Order: sequence, then C-alpha cells, then structure tokens
Amino acid sequence: MPTAFEHDVLIIGTGAAGLSLALHLPSHYRIALLSKADLNQGSTFWAQGGMAAVLHDRDTINSHVEDTLAAGAGLCQREAVEFTVRNSRHCVEWLVQQGVDFDLRDDQLDAEGREFHLTMEGGHSHRRIIHAADRTGRAISEVLTERALERDNIEVFTHRVAVDLVCDGGRCRGAYVLDRRSEHVDLFQARAVVLATGGASKAYLYTSNPDGASGDGIAMAWRAGCRVANLEFNQFHPTCLYHPRAKSFLISEALRGEGAKLRLPDGTRFMPAFDERAELAPRDVVARAIDHEMKRLGLDCVFLDISHQPREFLESHFPTIMERCAEFGIDITSEPIPVVPAAHYTCGGVIVDTAGRTDVPGLYAIGETSCTGLHGANRMASNSLLECIVYAESAAADIAASIDALPVPTLAPAWDESQVTDSDEDVVISHNWDELRRFMWDYVGIVRTNKRLQRALHRVTLLQAEIAEYYGNYKVGNDLLELRNLAMVAELMIRCAIERKESRGLHYTLDYPDTLPVAENTVLTPSNSPLQG
Ligand code: FAD
Ligand code: SIN
Repeated sequence: MPTAFEHDVLIIGTGAAGLSLALHLPSHYRIALLSKADLNQGSTFWAQGGMAAVLHDRDTINSHVEDTLAAGAGLCQREAVEFTVRNSRHCVEWLVQQGVDFDLRDDQLDAEGREFHLTMEGGHSHRRIIHAADRTGRAISEVLTERALERDNIEVFTHRVAVDLVCDGGRCRGAYVLDRRSEHVDLFQARAVVLATGGASKAYLYTSNPDGASGDGIAMAWRAGCRVANLEFNQFHPTCLYHPRAKSFLISEALRGEGAKLRLPDGTRFMPAFDERAELAPRDVVARAIDHEMKRLGLDCVFLDISHQPREFLESHFPTIMERCAEFGIDITSEPIPVVPAAHYTCGGVIVDTAGRTDVPGLYAIGETSCTGLHGANRMASNSLLECIVYAESAAADIAASIDALPVPTLAPAWDESQVTDSDEDVVISHNWDELRRFMWDYVGIVRTNKRLQRALHRVTLLQAEIAEYYGNYKVGNDLLELRNLAMVAELMIRCAIERKESRGLHYTLDYPDTLPVAENTVLTPSNSPLQG
C-alpha cells in the first residue's frame, strides 16, 4: 500500500549538497533524505580533482573571484561569486571538522598546523585545489554519509525516486516518490523541500557522469513553475579515458595541473597553438581544441602524457587513475593516456538566490541542479563542490529561520494509479533513451549550428509526445521517469541554445561565432510560473 510520510524538511538527493544541508539543519527538525539508488551514487562520489578554496598565503579572495569571472566569460553574477569564494575557507574548515582527510603537503605533515597540499587546474592563477589524492568526492561523500547516519533526526530513504513535486496554495509541500522496491508511489510531505538532485549530463551519449544524472530536479522544478537559466552551457570535460570497456572514467584535470601535456598520435603538442595558457586554458577552450584536432585529422582520440612525473608522485597523487588505466593495460608512468571529451557538468539550472530559494515558496535548489550565477557561461574547475557546500549552509540557515512559522501541510491526494497498467513494451523506453542521447551529442554538442539545433528541437518534441503517451498509460518505473526528465531538460537546453545568438563560453555556434558586447542570461519561464501575471 502507498504510504504518506510527514517531515519538517524533505531533501531530495544525497550528494555533497543534500548531505551538507541535512547536517547544517538544527537537530530538532525531522528530516527525510532521499536518494534514488544506493547512497553515494551521485557525481559527488566520483569527483577527483578536488575543491577550490583560498588557502595559500599568496592567494587572495579577489584572485579567486577574478579567475571565476574570467572563466565564466562575462556571465557570472559577481554577488554569487564573491559570496561563494568568501565562504571557501570556512567550508573547508567545516569539512575537516566533519572528518574529511584532505592531503597535506608532502614536506609538512603536521595535522595540527594543517598545511594542505594544493593542486592546480585550468583557469586558476594559483594552486588552490584542496584534495584527497584523486578521490576527493569519495572522501567527502563517505564522511558526510557517516555523519548523517549518526543523526537521529535524519531519516534516510534509498531507492526512492521523486516523481513530481506537490504544490498547493502557492507553496511546495512535498513530493510524490516512487519506492523502487515495492513499486508504490508514496507521498512525502514537508514544510520545506530541497532539490539536490545533481546535473543532467546523461542527456549526452558520452559523459563522465554516473547513471542517474538525468536532470530530475530541473525537470520537476520546471513543471512546478520555476524559471530555469543558462541551460545551453553544458560543460564537456576535455579528458575522459578512451577505451571500449571504460565507461565514463574521468582523467582529472589535476594531471594537467601537474604538467601533463596533450599530444596527437605522433607525439606533437597542440594546445599552445590554440591558447597561451595551453593545457591549463579553461575547459571550453581545451575541449574545443581537442574536438577540432580530432575532426581535422579524423582521430578517435588524442593523448594525455604525464610520464615525466616520477612513479612515486603518481602513486601518491593519482592512485585511482593509475589503477584504472592499468586495468586497461595503460601504464601512465611510461605511456600517454588515450582521451576524448565527454559531457561533464550542467552549468545552468533552476534559478535561485544566495539562500537557494527558487521562485516557488517552500522550494529550494542547491548543488548542480541550481543556477546560482557562480558559473556563468563556463564553470571553473573544482568550483562545484565548493558551491554545493556553501549553498547547503545558506539554504539551511534560511530554512531554519523561516520554518517554525509555517503550517504543517494538509494531506495532499494520494497518487492515482487506477487508470494505468503494466507496460508490455519496454523497448520504447530503451530506444528513446538511445535516440535522445545520440541526437543531443550530434546536434547539441561542442560545436553547434542553427540547423542542427532546429533538428534537435524537432526530434525532442516528437519524443516528448511519445513519452507523454507512455507515461499516461503505464505504471511508472525509474527508466521511464529518467527518460521523461531527460527529454524535458534536453528541450530546455535546446531552447536556451537557440535563444543565444552569439558564441560565449561553452556555447559555440558556427552561425554566430562572435561574442556580443553585453552578456545576458538565457532565462526560460514556465507558463505556470508564480511570477506570471
Ligand atoms: P550529486 O552528487 O550528483 O547527487 C545527486 C543526488 O540526487 C544523488 O543522491 C541521487 O540519487 C539523487 N537524486 C537524483 N534524482 C533523484 C530523484 N528523482 N529522486 C531521488 N533522488 C534523486 N567538481 C568539483 O568541484 N571538483 C572535482 O574534482 C570534480 N570532479 C568530478 C568528477 C566527475 C567524474 C564528475 C562526474 C563530476 C565532478 N565534479 C567535480 C562535479 C561535482 O562532482 C558535481 O557537480 C557535484 O558533486 C554535484 O553534487 P550534487 O550534490 O549537486 O549532486
Ligand atoms: C577533474 O578532476 O578534472 C574534475 C574537476 C571538476 O570537474 O571540477
């Protein structure tokens, strides 16, 4: 039987954003924390390089702010950037208090004095990436999960997929949630609801992201009436391992920070010809250069060479990458790694303010699901974990300050399954998944044109009609829900891309190769927005 749950706060997502928010809320609130698979299966767990923070004596807040603004190609909101960067040291301290063990400097292993090893990544003008070898996300995820499981007031629900938000009387009051084990759709009611569901890079055929990055939060927020922005800015990470059996494995930008060079199959370096910062240019520049060389020479991949570093250095800084490459017969101490770009990060998302508030009262969005204004047209490496932690804290403070005054929600209607049957044609779902991800890769990829975007819009409209029919007639399952959300977000990405009549940051189109003098956000407003009329 479907169940109705009631909590003070419902947090959908157990990545860095959702877990941090749960831990920042006062312990007298009853919190429901949902993940759609096992815990630790979002992008956070797979983050390698680290988290950007102003920690070095010679680094400054101003320098981190200016680097972020430059990477964002004129589209970042200065207020959001300054807010995030100002909080970076404090967020590192909080993570250390929770128990996260960041790497210390090789020559200064004093746990009390704590001099952290800081690495370098593209766009940063200082060493400012704090990390735990090349498995920073795993270190953060495991510690925050452990802390959350210790708390009596946090109830963790795994294998629960939020289907849609419940809104009533102009407020968000909960969500309908599929229990993947019982296959029932339950009602979760709360006084405040937080979307911390990660990004939508699964919209592309090739991606560094784990399964589940299907933009559920963005799609649910849009359906509930929230504006979204800047979804044309899909970041392609320049270096994912190219091997037929290596699904979605990232080769961290920190390798380039430690001197790795990009080469063609004959060993020639090519990045200096594209940008004076060479391998450490921002990601949009590097990904486009690789794409250009691959197309020009008809290559399947290019190569990343870190073999100049001693074996001991690679073993201590990049153990995961070394091990994974070795599984495919690649010895990174002596040979270059075959790499290709892949979809990595959704820069746009649900529009929020510095407290994570969306347009719908009672509904918050944090982490990769949100669009805070920090990333603009291109996220600078390692700014996203930072954003998750900073906005989790500010959203928690806002919820704590407002929630006591809010009434407990009245019971919403239960999910109605009386008109639907079990599907007998699951092939429709798998076919449409493949088709969507392929045309997004081919038509809405690193280099775009008007014609390709129009083709993609046409395709996605047809797919959505089929999906809507399927959704209306059959019982919901995770694959159908993800497909429905991906198609929704793909449409929003395409519409944003069509609206932008210039090339800027991650959005590059052959029809408008120049950048306009004034930078403007691409904002889409749903017909049920509370801001309309
Ligand atoms: P996620 O960590 O993706 O978590 C999403 C959560 O939402 C999951 O628990 C999922 O189960 C849940 N969820 C989703 N939909 C639903 C639903 N419908 N119902 C219920 N639950 C749902 N950034 C950096 O700053 N530094 C790095 O070094 C770095 N390296 C990266 C390496 C890789 C391979 C990848 C993929 C990303 C990397 N990033 C890095 C980006 C960064 O990891 C992510 O942006 C960040 O972790 C997102 O955190 P999040 O909490 O917003 O979402
Ligand atoms: C990486 O380690 O290259 C990923 C860093 C990021 O996406 O911020």
